[in-house]
Amino acid sequence: MRLLVTGGCGFIGTNFIYLMLERHPDWTIFNLDKLTYAGNRKNLLPVEQGKDKKRYHFLHGDICDREYIEETMLKHRIDAVINFAAESHVDRSINDPSPFVTTNVQGAQNLMECARRIGIGRFVHVSTDEVYGTLGPEGKFMETTPLAPNSPYSASKAGADLMARAYFETYGLPVVITRCSNNYGPYQFPEKLIPLVYRNAKTDNPLPVYGDGLNVRDWIYVDDHCTGVELALLKGREGQAYNFGGDAEKPNIEVIKTILSILGKPESLITFVKDRPGHDRRYAMDFSLARKELGFAPSLNFEQGLKKTVEWYEANANWLEDVQSGAYRDFMDEWYKERK
Ligand code: NAD
Ligand code: TYD
Repeated sequence: MRLLVTGGCGFIGTNFIYLMLERHPDWTIFNLDKLTYAGNRKNLLPVEQGKDKKRYHFLHGDICDREYIEETMLKHRIDAVINFAAESHVDRSINDPSPFVTTNVQGAQNLMECARRIGIGRFVHVSTDEVYGTLGPEGKFMETTPLAPNSPYSASKAGADLMARAYFETYGLPVVITRCSNNYGPYQFPEKLIPLVYRNAKTDNPLPVYGDGLNVRDWIYVDDHCTGVELALLKGREGQAYNFGGDAEKPNIEVIKTILSILGKPESLITFVKDRPGHDRRYAMDFSLARKELGFAPSLNFEQGLKKTVEWYEANANWLEDVQSGAYRDFMDEWYKERK
């Protein structure tokens, strides 16, 4: 298979490429990435320079660029596309929704349009549980739950999901949508809760907790999400959306205290700050459809996954240094100043 992966220099894309090269010796992967603040080509340098260099190719490009995408799909005789490329951070989307609409809606539509024109055999659009909005204390999201996004990020992801549905219904594009809960693991940018808490705790800096800290997320180890995407690519029904989750619902404050206890750091670092506007209260996933049709099940529980994650960050301190550019620090400084 000749696979075009977009956004492969980001958190999930990097983990996905490592796993797929290992699991499928006959696949060739083209990783097309714009290298925004969240993309790091160096993540996959060991592949670019190692034994798999003939079946991994980095392409610097933007999913919004029609001519370039179409040319790339044709030139490299692409069989299937996996679209991870996105602006992915809710706080940034609150600050400025525009790049979210450009990449997450227009970019996704552009990819689908090129795929349709060329007749690509399979298109996996990677989406999120956040498109469903928020839950009360009971119940779980199902694929039939109406889309009700609350942040500019989730609205942009829902826009692309609806476009994917339309491309299937109207043009018969062989598209499968995946909706997964909160991921954690190696290579996650330290603007997201788990790496941010790890980084701040290590350096004895305050850990900002939004609101009362009782918002609940369902956490999944990134490799389990990658397996879900792989299964959707190989076995998913065209036009279908599949939920993936980790069966690990945790209030934020519990996640933070667990990281502090692993690192042996004091709870006095916890600092309650003003809540995120439109902050979804609870996410939980019913992934029985993916279990039944694709054979999906998460392989790690939260404690196992978190231990692996912390071990990775401990062993890769340079990586954290590397990805924290000036632009990232300025943005976060501004954000926390406003919320104190
Ligand atoms: P990320 O922010 O770590 O990586 C995004 C990547 O996309 C970066 O490498 C960036 O350079 C690239 N990119 C951005 N705009 C681009 C463009 N216009 N053209 C080409 N490349 C571009 O994100 P992530 O956490 O790895 O998420 C990947 C996908 O999974 C996203 O679509 C996200 O919505 C979805 N998702 C994420 C989670 C999560 O918990 N992180 C959960 C469910 C779904
Ligand atoms: P995040 O990692 O941004 O993912 P998402 O918003 O996509 O779920 O946040 C996870 C949860 O942690 C969310 O409820 C917001 C909260 N949070 C904090 O309390 N403090 C922080 O500094 C961050 C980044 C998030």
